[in-house]
Amino acid sequence: FEGMTIFELAKRTGASIRSLQEIIANVGERVLSEFDPLSIDIAELVSMEVGVNVRRLHLDEGAVLQPRPAVVTVMGHVDHGKTSLLDALRQTSVAAKEAGGITQHLGAFVVDMPSGSLITFLDTPGHAAFSAMRARGAAVTDIVVLVVAADDGVMQQTLEAMSHAQAAGVPIVVAINKCDKPAADPERVKMQLGAEGLLLEDLGGDVQVVEVSAKSKVGLDKLEEALLLQAEMMDLKSRIDGPAQAYVVEARLDRGRGPLATAIVKSGTLICGQYIVAGAEWGRIRAIRDMLGMTTTSGKPAMPVEIEGLKGLPMAGDDVVVVNTEERARMLSHGRKKKLEKDRLLKASEERTENEDISE
Ligand code: GTP
Ligand code: MG
Repeated sequence: FEGMTIFELAKRTGASIRSLQEIIANVGERVLSEFDPLSIDIAELVSMEVGVNVRRLHLDEGAVLQPRPAVVTVMGHVDHGKTSLLDALRQTSVAAKEAGGITQHLGAFVVDMPSGSLITFLDTPGHAAFSAMRARGAAVTDIVVLVVAADDGVMQQTLEAMSHAQAAGVPIVVAINKCDKPAADPERVKMQLGAEGLLLEDLGGDVQVVEVSAKSKVGLDKLEEALLLQAEMMDLKSRIDGPAQAYVVEARLDRGRGPLATAIVKSGTLICGQYIVAGAEWGRIRAIRDMLGMTTTSGKPAMPVEIEGLKGLPMAGDDVVVVNTEERARMLSHGRKKKLEKDRLLKASEERTENEDISE
């Protein structure tokens, strides 16, 4: 959308040139001739006003792409050991060991293996964020680890997680957990998954299965290897130079530091001091922290970072974009807030109409 003219925007959105010019004037921007290029921010704002969502994918067109770590989400049935498995994986990290095991509980963490390879894990509960991001058409997750307890076997939420991943087109690696238990029956779990249509490696498919125990820390290296292999096959790459695009994984309010957003950079590099818009909130990045809580000056693709400096709390799944000036940040945030409010009112009135229909 960068460089698009009012003329082209009118053609794309179906709105009249005049109405688009009015919108631009209303936000206090100079109205250009319909053939002058617009900035991406103005183009987005105007598109939003006329009800069209723009995606900023153009940035990646023709850019140099470089290999990046995989972003992995752990999903599965309640109590099957997602949190335990993540904690165990976290402890295998070289950095965690060097930091004396004192890792921050951010919404995401990175495991760096002795081989030097990295894997980024989204912490549970990542379910909500995962759905929100999928709804926005931006699966931040490259791979899903489907955790199934070896004693319980496949349950309701196992199947839900499986269909979530499949609908998003995200490959699955199965971790059969609690294999230390006397009642563990990994073969039964494989049969169940196979019966549900998952094409397991053991049965000639390409979905890898690893038997683990989060409790006795068995099979964690095998799981990491399986994830690296899967990532290798996917040949994951991102643009590293240029403005960052990121996704919010979680956000919280810190008494001293204000709103803090944990985000995963999808492409480009996030730099301290930049103006950003995260969902409908804006701010200037005051500090960036890595997953160990250390301040850093930038965030690169697949790296979870904690961003300080937003004026309000964004939501899990919100996108983060970089803009050039404070005015634009304010304007975009204002525009997105108005759009959210409009959507909310529209939804409320639709629901009212539905209720009336029912009561008639
Ligand atoms: P929710 O977040 O509530 O959905 O659960 P979860 O999937 O995160 O499971 P969690 O890690 O909290 O583990 C649930 C229970 O299973 C806890 O009591 C764990 O100690 C136990 N557990 C987890 N992994 C293992 C394992 O490998 N072996 C055994 N024996 N117990 C385990
Ligand atoms: Mg849990």
